[in-house]
Amino acid sequence: MKVGVPTEIKTDEYRVSLTPAGARELVEQGHEVLVQGGAGNGSAIWDRDYEAQGARILPDAESVFAEAEMVLGVKEPQPEEVAMLRPEHVLFTYLHLAPAPELTQGLADAGATCIAYETVEDAQGRLPLLAPMSEVAGKIATQAGAFMLEKPLGGRGVLLGGVPGVAAANVMVIGGVVVGFNAAAIAIGMEADVFVFDRNIDRLRELDVAFAGRASTVYSSVLAVEEMLPRADLVIGAVLVHGARAPYVIRREQLKLMKERAVIVDVSIDQGGCFETSRATTHSDPTYEVEGITHYCVANMPGAVPITSTYALTNATLPFVLALADHGVGGALARHPGLRPGVNVAGGRVTHAAVAEGTGHEFTPLDEVLEPQVASN
Ligand SMILES: NC(=O)c1ccc[n+]([C@@H]2O[C@H](COP(=O)([O-])OP(=O)(O)OC[C@H]3O[C@@H](n4cnc5c(N)ncnc54)[C@H](O)[C@@H]3O)[C@@H](O)[C@H]2O)c1
Repeated sequence: MKVGVPTEIKTDEYRVSLTPAGARELVEQGHEVLVQGGAGNGSAIWDRDYEAQGARILPDAESVFAEAEMVLGVKEPQPEEVAMLRPEHVLFTYLHLAPAPELTQGLADAGATCIAYETVEDAQGRLPLLAPMSEVAGKIATQAGAFMLEKPLGGRGVLLGGVPGVAAANVMVIGGVVVGFNAAAIAIGMEADVFVFDRNIDRLRELDVAFAGRASTVYSSVLAVEEMLPRADLVIGAVLVHGARAPYVIRREQLKLMKERAVIVDVSIDQGGCFETSRATTHSDPTYEVEGITHYCVANMPGAVPITSTYALTNATLPFVLALADHGVGGALARHPGLRPGVNVAGGRVTHAAVAEGTGHEFTPLDEVLEPQVASN
């Protein structure tokens, strides 16, 4: 198969969807790897590094999309990329379609088979291709929040860990699995007082053991959230309902309960945001203020640390990339059932129920779209 790696063009995105190690694995299996010149530069991976592993460098995105059968990405395709997609393409990237009806329509119109990293599952129903970036984003969330709490940056002017004789700041983390665990772990490391909220009691039990008393766990009822907000200096939103638009865990009215110049970091912004007042921001202009509360809502947080994120992401995606290249979509789905929920759009239809619900599209079961393809593999 011809596997294409275009340069990411989303604002402040420096990751790349394949490393030279990944290119080598594909080439070893007899596939062709086509990398847009300069695609790896943001992650300090140079064209010559890809060429040394057998990849071919192409001059621009047009030539990559024209030649490739499978296009690998990091962030969701931008409009000029959607315009280059064809029905015979397999697109494998983060899509986050539930809050993005226009992009969903664009992908359906293109007719390509669009597989979203964030809805691919493992045997336990976890999200193996979201997890590495959630680990990165969770750690950044606390770092960024601590920074934004500094007075010159518009924050309250409080140090997360306090000092002897002066209390630490209160960090409230809503959602306690991958993003939430990592955000809380860094906040604990910075010696803040940490409170992790979730609605899954078994998860709260696990966190209680993992943090060994260094963080409090709280069942995330509306009342519990409202009781915590007046005390919180930093609130990190880290909830997810697989594939769906993020639920609101803080409404505009509830911001009034918070201290002036407290900071909220909405990591769930890529699924539409879990605070009612959130709107996506960029690394170049990461914050804005509503009701006296600083909002940090960067939709591609791991893009800020590409040298970490590119390797973490491609370590996780490579087995699935190889399966798709070796066996085609039908064969790969048969061998890796967890890829099935990854297929969000195919043959012009929306094939993921939560994406269909979030975007107002009709849901079509995957088998109805891919049956002939599966049968032929
Ligand atoms: N902004 C970024 O750059 C970036 C990067 C990576 C991940 N993310 C996003 O971060 C979010 C969290 O990802 P994750 O991997 O940690 O998800 P996860 O599935 O590991 O954890 C989500 C948790 O949210 C909990 N939850 C759901 N609804 C809730 C509610 N109403 N109240 C309290 N808890 C609730 C679930 O019980 C679950 O424990 C996702 O939207 C993901 O796409 C964003």
